[in-house]
Amino acid sequence: MNYAGIGPITSSYKPTKQSAKRHYGSHPYFTKRAWNVVQEYIKHFTQPGDVVLDPFGGSGVTAVESLVLRRKAIYCDISEWACFLARQTAIAPISLTALDSALARVTEKAREYICGLYSLSDSRISTMRHRYWFPRNVRLPANADVQLVEELFTKRMLLGLSALLHTIRQEDDEVVRNLMLVAFSATLAKVNKTFLSAQNRKESRGGSSIFSIYRYKVAGCPVELNVWEQFELRMRRLRAAKAETNELIGDFFREPDTAQFIKGSATRLSGFVAPESVDYIYTDPPYGGHIAYLDLSCMWNAWLGFSVSDEDRRDEVIVGGEDKKTEHAYADLLQASLREMSKVLRPERWLSLVFAHWDPTYWRLIVETCREAGLDYVNMVAQPVGTVWSMHKKKNPLRVISGEWVLNFRKVGCVHVRKLRRKASLETIVREEAESCIVRNAGASTEMLYTALLPRLLEAGLLGGGNQKPWDLRTLLEQLFVFVPSHQRWHLRPNVTPNPRLPIEIRVRYCVASLLYGRRRSRRMTLSDIQGIVCDRLGDGVAVPQEMLRSCMREFAHSCDDVHWDVPANGTQLDLLVGSSVS
Ligand SMILES: C[S@@+](CC[C@H](N)C(=O)[O-])C[C@H]1O[C@@H](n2cnc3c(N)ncnc32)[C@H](O)[C@@H]1O
Repeated sequence: MNYAGIGPITSSYKPTKQSAKRHYGSHPYFTKRAWNVVQEYIKHFTQPGDVVLDPFGGSGVTAVESLVLRRKAIYCDISEWACFLARQTAIAPISLTALDSALARVTEKAREYICGLYSLSDSRISTMRHRYWFPRNVRLPANADVQLVEELFTKRMLLGLSALLHTIRQEDDEVVRNLMLVAFSATLAKVNKTFLSAQNRKESRGGSSIFSIYRYKVAGCPVELNVWEQFELRMRRLRAAKAETNELIGDFFREPDTAQFIKGSATRLSGFVAPESVDYIYTDPPYGGHIAYLDLSCMWNAWLGFSVSDEDRRDEVIVGGEDKKTEHAYADLLQASLREMSKVLRPERWLSLVFAHWDPTYWRLIVETCREAGLDYVNMVAQPVGTVWSMHKKKNPLRVISGEWVLNFRKVGCVHVRKLRRKASLETIVREEAESCIVRNAGASTEMLYTALLPRLLEAGLLGGGNQKPWDLRTLLEQLFVFVPSHQRWHLRPNVTPNPRLPIEIRVRYCVASLLYGRRRSRRMTLSDIQGIVCDRLGDGVAVPQEMLRSCMREFAHSCDDVHWDVPANGTQLDLLVGSSVS
């Protein structure tokens, strides 16, 4: 492969998360990457036999997809639990018959007892003795609703889970036992008091606050899902996942030759990965404060016996958490990991770093650190993340960023900075780029604006840091534009005319969208009214054909009769009467 001839990836891929059994349905994890997007990157930057590293490996999507594509995988994560889950997801080939037999044995020994617990009254349960081990006196993070791991469970849950774990641990075959422990671990995610049942759906549909708000929040009305039923379901899903990896990975999984799963810190990579031995790195480090991975894995660590050392805590790349790490500490650790990545990467090879952050300083920090370490920033691609589930984002559309970006770097060892076409100030770049993005897209989401602005600002060296005064992109956007809540998009200020250099269709389309979603619209309007307002806004005396207006109207509003138009706005329907007399 001619590595020097590889160009960057310049456009996004549509994520299809759900379609791979090996990643979905068998075990949840925080911020799982879309497997098909990761595959596209691996295929683009490497060839079969190459070594692919993910130093912040999480649930192991990069490692597993590397193996599927016959690349050698090196996985690293500071969490022993994550490392265990990732390795179990990748391991192949697995005897499904052995797995079935083990499930039959566990069923024989534990099912009746566990299912029986659900026909007993609460008062009967309260008198029962605990027969098996469960974690006691293990402290949860300080922001949890309860203090100890055991308080996350009802007594019935504890009786069922401890019996199940005891029975699984009796299995002799380590491979099969470990897979069953994955199913147990997935059962824990559902059977605990943080599980919130979705309204008007089956009781078992819903999720745990650990994965939605990244905190041990006890549900107002906790449900007691049947431990055995949940375990059986997880085992079925796991079996399907292993049938898939048997077929896709098969005997290519050979430790340590083609697969290495290392519990370690990305900030110390060169301690366990040889210098200049890696052909490609695809990774997404923690983005900052929301997810304290080690704190959040506390419940699983307690049940499964994984430990977290003080050194792990010191090395974890996060803001906040139990140790209340500062943004400074986060930045230092992120920088340390980038330097290590550069050390282990071969010359001319690529690093793709998935990142999202409000604060522009971090973007500059990443690019500068990489540059100093011999990794040349090449480009940045906005990558849609599919459906946005985060309540945090829904409540704070301006403060929380839901998209993510893939920054591509190449190890060249020399500095290459693309020059700006002309020197421009921060405000000029923000104004011009954002204005064009808003008009071209008939209103732009915050993510769209970041995508348009960040590469320009990076290349211009204007992303804060160094001697520059820190600045806030959101504040600047608020000064220059308006956020229209009913459209959830940024628009030009009402007195601003769209740039006449943009094609007329684009400007008309923008003016129609901004009229329909803005406050100037009255409930009754004729097409001539709209024509007048749009022409006013364009301000260049250009006549706007009514057919052009109509086709824009059809894009943003629905009508059955060309007279009454419904504009979907913020969940409500508004009637807009376009009098037929003027058509
Ligand atoms: C955003 S997640 C990665 C998710 C992963 N890409 C996936 O698809 O599942 C970040 C991961 O970084 C890990 N992490 C945090 N600090 C680390 C460090 N110093 N070294 C290695 N891993 C670390 C966390 O445990 C977490 O699993």
